[in-house]
Amino acid sequence: MSAVVSGGIPLRRYHSFALSVKAEILLLPSQEEAVPEAASQATYIIGEGSNILPLGNLPAVLSTRYLRGYQVLKEENDTVVVEIAAGENWDGWVRFCIAQGWHGLENLAAIPGSVGAAVVQNIGAYGVELAPFLLSVYGWNRRIEAWQDIPADACRLGYRHSLFQEEAWRDQFVITRVTLRLSKRFEPVLTYPDVLARIDPTQQHDPWHVYETIRAIRSEKLPAEGSAGSFFKNPILSLSELRTLQKKAPEVPFHPQPDGKFKVSAAWLIDRAGLKGHRIGNALVHPRQPLVLVNTGSATPDELWSLAQHVRDTVMEKWGIPLEMEVRPLFPHPSKP
Ligand code: EPU
Repeated sequence: MSAVVSGGIPLRRYHSFALSVKAEILLLPSQEEAVPEAASQATYIIGEGSNILPLGNLPAVLSTRYLRGYQVLKEENDTVVVEIAAGENWDGWVRFCIAQGWHGLENLAAIPGSVGAAVVQNIGAYGVELAPFLLSVYGWNRRIEAWQDIPADACRLGYRHSLFQEEAWRDQFVITRVTLRLSKRFEPVLTYPDVLARIDPTQQHDPWHVYETIRAIRSEKLPAEGSAGSFFKNPILSLSELRTLQKKAPEVPFHPQPDGKFKVSAAWLIDRAGLKGHRIGNALVHPRQPLVLVNTGSATPDELWSLAQHVRDTVMEKWGIPLEMEVRPLFPHPSKP
């Protein structure tokens, strides 16, 4: 089954920036069998639209949000292998897992978006990343017109990166199912400073307590609506790039990465460039988490785009660091459908 709606469909409900933009065609497959036909018409492929910035009215948009369901593929003593339809809501899935006694995802509480998008972005928060739980991804490759099962180690997962963001795969591959391995034992990850400030790691904790604590931390910092979460990625620098930055910004927070590089706080760079609360029209740099750009109600795509450029240019000028967007801009006239 696939609903196809055409003729200027408002996209406000279909993306988290809640802009007044439209799609010429909106394709909403609710069953996997409908995906190939829908994909053949689509310009852009999205999930719940929580990581996109539509820059005007769009041509044909396929959303996988109505692909729902899950099945347990294998149960072992300590782990369970589950396949989840890509359109399931991520946070709903995390809560479902806790209720089933399946663990590992608690720190990824309250991240907006769908299960499929969680893989595309390789979501991460509060010391936990999706990557180690992923076994494989299944979907329709419209370029070769075939279903493909892609093992996790071929998904090129990195910090906020996956194969599915790359040119050859973006808008070419519709993720319809995701397979995860979860643990039946609850081993909380309580390493992140914000979490340690609220949870004593020497005590035993209920998974719901960890989940609710993460939720509370997020809701204090991040706006409930009108944003796509972090707009920029934290820059990853080599040691010599870090040393150069530290000459200008000795206090910049950084975290060593497993590959010998250093992840630097983009929020800090934006904050110390004086941009917190900066506004262009109704687009705002969030005053509590400056990595987040917000539509305060009736922002236009141009206002958000100008604000993003302004943040990028100012950070470049002050710190010499190019910020990479995490949010994906969708252009009204894509050069390549
Ligand atoms: N900071 C400031 N000023 C501020 C806020 C933060 O200087 O106003 C500095 C502080 O030094 C703070 C540091 O930034 O310690 C880090 O802030 P935070 O803990 O909020 O984390 P982040 O690196 O800014 C990342 C993710 C978030 C995720 C948090 C928690 C990215 C791009 N963002 O933000 O993800 O929730 O860590 O793990 O990696 C998202 O992707 O939408 C998102 C919200």
